[in-house]
Amino acid sequence: MRRVQEGAMTANALQYMPGFGNDFESEALPGALPQGQNSPQRCPYGLYAEQLSGTAFTAPRGRNERSWCYRIRPSVRHVGRFQPIDVSHWKSAPNIFPEVTSLGQYRWNPVPHGEGDTDWITGMRTVTTAGDVNTQTGMASHIYLVTQSMVDSYFYSADGELLVVPQQGTLRFCTELGVLDVAPGEIAVLPRGLVYRVEVIEGPCRGFVCENYGQQFDLPDRGPIGANCMANPRDFKTPVAAFEDRDAPSTVTLKWCGQFHRSEIGHSPLDVVAWHGNYAPYKYDLSTYSPVGAILFDHPDPSIFTVLTARSEVEGTANIDFVLFRERWLVAENSFRPPWYHKNVMSELMGNIYGEYDAKPDGFGPGAMSLHNCMLPHGPDQAAFEKASTGELVPHKLDNTMSFMFETRFPQHLTQWAANEAPIQPDYADVWSGLEKKFDGTIDPG
Ligand SMILES: [Fe+2]
Repeated sequence: MRRVQEGAMTANALQYMPGFGNDFESEALPGALPQGQNSPQRCPYGLYAEQLSGTAFTAPRGRNERSWCYRIRPSVRHVGRFQPIDVSHWKSAPNIFPEVTSLGQYRWNPVPHGEGDTDWITGMRTVTTAGDVNTQTGMASHIYLVTQSMVDSYFYSADGELLVVPQQGTLRFCTELGVLDVAPGEIAVLPRGLVYRVEVIEGPCRGFVCENYGQQFDLPDRGPIGANCMANPRDFKTPVAAFEDRDAPSTVTLKWCGQFHRSEIGHSPLDVVAWHGNYAPYKYDLSTYSPVGAILFDHPDPSIFTVLTARSEVEGTANIDFVLFRERWLVAENSFRPPWYHKNVMSELMGNIYGEYDAKPDGFGPGAMSLHNCMLPHGPDQAAFEKASTGELVPHKLDNTMSFMFETRFPQHLTQWAANEAPIQPDYADVWSGLEKKFDGTIDPG
């Protein structure tokens, strides 16, 4: 299906500028962007100048993010009186209930689409929450089930940026700063405070979302890997300016400290004609991720596959890491090649975008997700262990595989929906029950 709003922002749309965190500039009308200063006495075309601050004014230069927007109306005209609304399935941390047990290893089958149509707001289903939205720490993980475009309806979140990982269908994000189309195999990041409308280009659409309450996602340092590989900055794409000058009864929904409010206005808020700065949405093609790994022996920590990291105040301890397990060669000698068994102070939520994940060949197909919570042991299932322990260690290509992990320093708490309504696999922990004792103390290794 294709449901795109009539008269939508099309001029200049679907062009992208390369680079991660660049100081971009773009104008949808010639001369709309003031040169040499941010706030002239009168802006070109009668536009209003407005700054969108993604970090504190005084954040260090390397972390400071803001954009200057030149728009038909200032944002204060894009909100009216807010009325609270109920968005029943989109939860925020803390969201902890004594009757919901989050302690454990969990896995869910792909969540099916329901009976009626759902859009970006009504189709969001929170799986886990971690940290505290009020203190801007932690995250929430969601599944989105979207069949319907938003029409004269707009959304923004003051609670965090959204990392979107499509698994099915193509979405279009018409944002204040431009238009992004995002399909499976790509991700998109929508900054905190950015207003947008979500349209279905090819549906139905399903995917995963990491709502990051903390500092923005950034590229991880590469250390001794050097200046290349992993995610390269030029493969991140930020849209060029696009706007709509549209007068029509419209609604703006705002998520703020976990609560939803709606405001009615008489026009589209997507009216930024020109902008410059480094606080902007972007997308990234996961097939451009260049994995680095073991080329002689052993299995490196999964952090070697980090695409984006959202830092915390503790050095080396991420609020969230977004980690990608994609196609790659396995060549390690005399090594157990899948992930090792372990317990982790970090909490790991995984999802499968397509193909088969090597540590869990069964039960974790495309659209499925799993949770291995803080200090809960996990690792390869019995079939994966036996295969990897006895197989011939020739070079082997892991093909047709793309899974990811949202890994956070905070325990992840299940929502009531995830525990009781989502298609949870009640016997998931049994995948390890066949791991028998192999120990024989009478065998002399020498
Ligand atoms: Fe793990």
